[in-house]
Amino acid sequence: MKGIILAGGNGTRLQPLTFAGSKQLAPVYDKPMIYYPLSVLMLTGVRDILIICRAEELHVFRRLFGDGAHLGLRIDYATQDKPRGIADALLVGADHICGEECALILGDNLFHGAQLPVLLRRSAAKLRGCVLFGHEVADPRQFGVAEVDEHGRLLSIQEKPEHPPSNLAVPGLYFFDARACDIARSLAPSARGELEITDVLRAYLDAGTADLVWLGRGVTWLDTGTHESLLDAARFVRDLQHRQGTRLGCVEEIAMYMGYIGPDACHALGAEMSNSPYGRYVMDRAGTFRQGLPPLSFVEEM
Ligand code: TTP
Repeated sequence: MKGIILAGGNGTRLQPLTFAGSKQLAPVYDKPMIYYPLSVLMLTGVRDILIICRAEELHVFRRLFGDGAHLGLRIDYATQDKPRGIADALLVGADHICGEECALILGDNLFHGAQLPVLLRRSAAKLRGCVLFGHEVADPRQFGVAEVDEHGRLLSIQEKPEHPPSNLAVPGLYFFDARACDIARSLAPSARGELEITDVLRAYLDAGTADLVWLGRGVTWLDTGTHESLLDAARFVRDLQHRQGTRLGCVEEIAMYMGYIGPDACHALGAEMSNSPYGRYVMDRAGTFRQGLPPLSFVEEM
């Protein structure tokens, strides 16, 4: 399965912060925002990843991740000259996807939870069309919302409904089979001038091949598109890390536990940042791993 992180957009709700650079490079406590969606793809088992960003930030993303080899990944880049909509990722990324299955994640979405990686890998393995996720939120009106029947099966998806049919918001993470690019090519822009991801999902729904996977209460989903939600996300990460002594979205650690790189390589990556607590954490995890601890099941809880 290929991966795409959509990290363009103008981030108008975060202005003037985003006059200085991409939202997805903004710090969420101790790391750039994009580390979080990248770690979700890595935990799903996706190693061939395209980052789509604005041309002006391409060099920064490249500086951050290079070709991804140090993380045992292959990372490529493409630019979107203007925000044409989330489904546009399937057009910009068509050559990258190249007729394979793909996981598309928005660069400003943060997921965390016990068993999340297991859920992701299981959902990817069972893909028969598209998989979208449902997450209960107090006020779903600002999101895509899933309407479900009494068995929890997906009936429809409504974009920012005034009267939501459920509390199940649809986060910015989708798994698609090889048809996604063709579906995106057939779309016309919506009234707001964007290629809507809900139209892609609807095409799968009409074909009877859209599966909704509920993210249970144990999973946290945060988006980071406003000043408040960005601060909330940073606080969430800080509080959890301080309490547990482990780090969220630590791509070096995940690469090691997923077997993409060895502990020596992981340690070396940490050593390059040894003046920061993050770098020392990476070195420490590599040391622990070398001693045979903790087991791989640890990955299932990240
Ligand atoms: P949005 O939050 O819808 O848009 P934005 O990030 O530009 O912010 P604002 O609404 O404040 O102007 O985008 C969600 C995510 O998808 C975000 O990570 C940016 C990304 N995105 C693109 O990269 N290209 C696009 O064309 C769109 C619509 C979004």
